[in-house]
Amino acid sequence: MSCHKSYITTPIYYVNDVAHIGHAYTTIIADTLARYARLIGQDTFFLTGTDEHGQKIEEAAKKRGKDTQAYADEISAKFRELWDEFDISYDKFIRTTDADHMKGVQKAFSVMYDRGDIYKDTYSGHYCISCETFFPQTQLVDGEFCPDCGKQTSIVEEESYFFRLSKYQDRLLEWYRDNPECILPKSKRNEVIRFVEGGLNDLSITRTSFDWGVKLPERFNDPKHVMYVWLDALMNYVTALGYGTDEAKMDFWPARVHLIGKDILRFHAIYWPAFLMSLDLPLPKHIGAHGWWTRNGEKMSKSKGNVVNPKEVADAYGLENFRYFMLREVPFGGDGDFSQRALIDRINSDLGNDLGNLLNRLIGMSSKYFEGRVECDLVEKYYKTELDELQVSLDKLEPYIFELQLHRYLEELWRPLTIANRAIDKYQPWTMIKEGKTEETMALNGLIATILAKVSLMLHAVMPKTTTVIANALGFEITPESFNKIIRNGEILEPFVTQKREPLFPRIEEQLLEEKSIEESKEEPKKENKPKEEKEADNIALIGIEQFFEVSLKIGTIVEAQEVKKSKKLLLLQVDIGEDRPRQVVAGIKEWYSADELVGTQVCVVANLKPAKLMGMKSEGMLLAAKDSDGLCLIRPEKPKAVGTPIS
Ligand code: MSP
Repeated sequence: MSCHKSYITTPIYYVNDVAHIGHAYTTIIADTLARYARLIGQDTFFLTGTDEHGQKIEEAAKKRGKDTQAYADEISAKFRELWDEFDISYDKFIRTTDADHMKGVQKAFSVMYDRGDIYKDTYSGHYCISCETFFPQTQLVDGEFCPDCGKQTSIVEEESYFFRLSKYQDRLLEWYRDNPECILPKSKRNEVIRFVEGGLNDLSITRTSFDWGVKLPERFNDPKHVMYVWLDALMNYVTALGYGTDEAKMDFWPARVHLIGKDILRFHAIYWPAFLMSLDLPLPKHIGAHGWWTRNGEKMSKSKGNVVNPKEVADAYGLENFRYFMLREVPFGGDGDFSQRALIDRINSDLGNDLGNLLNRLIGMSSKYFEGRVECDLVEKYYKTELDELQVSLDKLEPYIFELQLHRYLEELWRPLTIANRAIDKYQPWTMIKEGKTEETMALNGLIATILAKVSLMLHAVMPKTTTVIANALGFEITPESFNKIIRNGEILEPFVTQKREPLFPRIEEQLLEEKSIEESKEEPKKENKPKEEKEADNIALIGIEQFFEVSLKIGTIVEAQEVKKSKKLLLLQVDIGEDRPRQVVAGIKEWYSADELVGTQVCVVANLKPAKLMGMKSEGMLLAAKDSDGLCLIRPEKPKAVGTPIS
């Protein structure tokens, strides 16, 4: 480990909504790294917080009829409370409305200006409020929709200050080239390089269309401008250390790792290093971009009502089990699908069978044969092969953690448990004891205790409380000192006496949460006020037959089909349902059907839906389909039927 200071950050979360599983994921990864860094004796600073300025927040407050600052206070406090309940070991919780932060952002603006990196001009462009980003016409979908989130953009013409991003293009490329691990996983670095090689435009870094933001420093005498939220937000990573005010903590800079989701990689891997270059500050060591959590393969969103609430899950299944699951289940950088089944399997199998049972076996055998006593001094004499094997696994572990390969870390950490469980089956202590091999049996228990001790130390950052219980059962405490002794110096455990205890991971037989209850977001408007689609997603209500007949379902034949360019999901179909002209239907089925194979086939069409616009195209109906984990299939009549035949 080359560096002795570890500064670890999460993104700062927007206060337009409460935390969901994605926020919990980033925060839990960061917390794990911070705990690990502390345990190995590094001087660690772990930062999280909330991002509170910008038009999106202003609008969210307005929608709820609240004062913007009061609204930001309320949601920011909810994030903080959740992290406290989750025992997140942050050292500072920053808010972009903190006075010190705002001073630091103003200082940065001045420094960049004095460097010649900021100039004033007029900007006319397409702006996406949701992403708080301008996009050139060429990047828009169908000339008007945001390429990132698909929402409608609006044309904004403003006087603006610009940051000379283009000036930093070559230096950025050099940085990516010279630091192969600056962006993790490495595959993501290539995406960034390609983007930057495509050319960088200067960046508009102030807005005049709203005023919920950091004002420019007074010397500019330009009160109608506020700073662009991303300049404001990214600066949190250094203002939290006192940049521009009390710089005492700046020796933690540069960050060891900024943890983020893949959707905000461009801001962190391009804008942020360019800002730092302009400020003459060192660049972060790593930017780690994780993937997305989905639900039944779909992106989570409020309108779909499928957002997983992390607190519900942690309350039902145990916070630490949830932490283990999230880190073990998905390779860092990849997307992961949340399901209770997968969580239960991890708890019963990895935690219950492999880890929990091993401790039970040790307690059982030591109380049966040695009145609970366990001694480790003869382990090396009898079980050298197993100890060597154990060391091979342990040696592989540390690099994984700071390469952010936490799933591999945990996978490798489970090998020692297999070594222990295998040794019991192989040497059969119940036979050894009968044969009078008392020393060998005690040494075997010592081997199991040694393995459990090392695993609990290495697992501590992921499951702090559980591993503390295991360590107590083995007669030691988890501290940087014990880590040093047992892991680094290979010292053996002091003799100890085991006590009977409740199982650590009681088996879970069935799902503990109703599917819908994990998804309920506490911030939603009351059910009565919800749009119809959301109401329906919440529960299956009983309806009368008359209500069913309100839906007009008809047999249709697809007469034309084509792909919607720039869309991964949509096909544009013309469906004959026996009217004077075919209906145009925009269907999200491209992942499962090609345009060609659909032409001439029959489908079931909802014929009396209000027309809707999807990516700028009118859609005059909907096709019935069924989707499960294997994918989607269209519902079709069993035999060909005349077009327009009603379905009932
Ligand atoms: N405020 C900005 C970050 C500024 S950092 C200087 C922001 N905030 S956010 O609240 O919208 O998102 C914060 C993080 O949550 C992002 O890293 C994002 O990737 C992550 N996630 C949001 N939804 C997610 C999932 N469904 N799954 C995993 N993480 C996701 O962006």
